[in-house]
Amino acid sequence: MKQKTKFLRADSPKDISTAIGLLKAGELVAIPTETVYGLAADAKNPAAVRKIFVAKGRPSSHPLIVHIASFAKIHEWAQDISPLATILAEHFWPGPLTLLLHKKPSVSVVVTGGLPTVALRVPQHPLLLEILQTLDTGLAAPSANQHKRISPTTAQHVIDGLAGGIAAVLDGGACSFGLESTIVDLTGSVPKILRPGPITQQMLEDALGLLVLAPDTHTEQVAGNMLVHYQPHTQTMLMPLSGLQKYLLLPENSTKILAVMHYSSMHATTDNVQFRAMPSKKADYAEAMYRVLHELDKANVHQILIEMPPNSPEWRDVLDRLTKASASDKI
Ligand code: TXA
Ligand code: MG
Repeated sequence: MKQKTKFLRADSPKDISTAIGLLKAGELVAIPTETVYGLAADAKNPAAVRKIFVAKGRPSSHPLIVHIASFAKIHEWAQDISPLATILAEHFWPGPLTLLLHKKPSVSVVVTGGLPTVALRVPQHPLLLEILQTLDTGLAAPSANQHKRISPTTAQHVIDGLAGGIAAVLDGGACSFGLESTIVDLTGSVPKILRPGPITQQMLEDALGLLVLAPDTHTEQVAGNMLVHYQPHTQTMLMPLSGLQKYLLLPENSTKILAVMHYSSMHATTDNVQFRAMPSKKADYAEAMYRVLHELDKANVHQILIEMPPNSPEWRDVLDRLTKASASDKI
């Protein structure tokens, strides 16, 4: 059903109370986090959570992350909690790390997509923490984009994708990390990364003093893990610098309007190509990545070409998102 989506501002106490009131009333509000904007609903209200799947066009079997105010709240949602959770929470919460634990029976399967596990995260964004403390519940929140599309890192991105389908968006500025949290499964005998993110395998291993598995996420059978994800509407290709240079010289591409996200220094050669230099530091690249993809997707180009950034463990999360954004099986 179409509704008028309210645009609320983080610097207005009245707007913050409106957002809290809507969440209490079982409505959907897109909220800023330090990673990407989340589409939030009261995780203790299954009817509210169901609206998330409708607004995003997301299959109901894809589980959601529950955002909580502090580590102390973990016991409201999880049981048989691995002792490793305490260590990781001490190191990385509040922050861009999601822990997968055994769910308590009271947690609705609407939130977990029918699974016996629950994904929990204490976010770092001060406004979201304030809201979570006031609400005294958890907020189920996936990224606030249409299913499989580019994740939103500004309130405007949320409006572009979901206006009319949600009650409100709370504008808290651009997200500082710009890329989704690391997800670590603590339900097995060995901790396992299910989605790479800002907290790297090395950081987790250093904190735990243990080996952490990081299987190739493409082959992992995890609900919600898809080969095609984070996709622009425009055809998008990921290639090494040499391939990119050759591609631009092909005669058939001389008349196409192209956009290039490059990591190495490149100079504009022809008028038909828009060159966008990406930052060389990983954290800066991640922060800019979805924003630039959103911009280029609106720029009416035939194709977006992305130069492959470094293939090192530090860049694993960025490579994961770029690979899925450019997977050839288009939606
Ligand atoms: O940074 C983030 O994590 C953002 C912000 C909003 O917090 N959220 C986010 O949510 O990226 P979403 O729904 O776009 O991605 C959550 C991922 C999904 O791929 C889902 O499969 C996985 O978390 N997940 C959630 N619960 C799970 C569970 N019980 N078992 C396995 N995977 C789970
Ligand atoms: Mg998402």
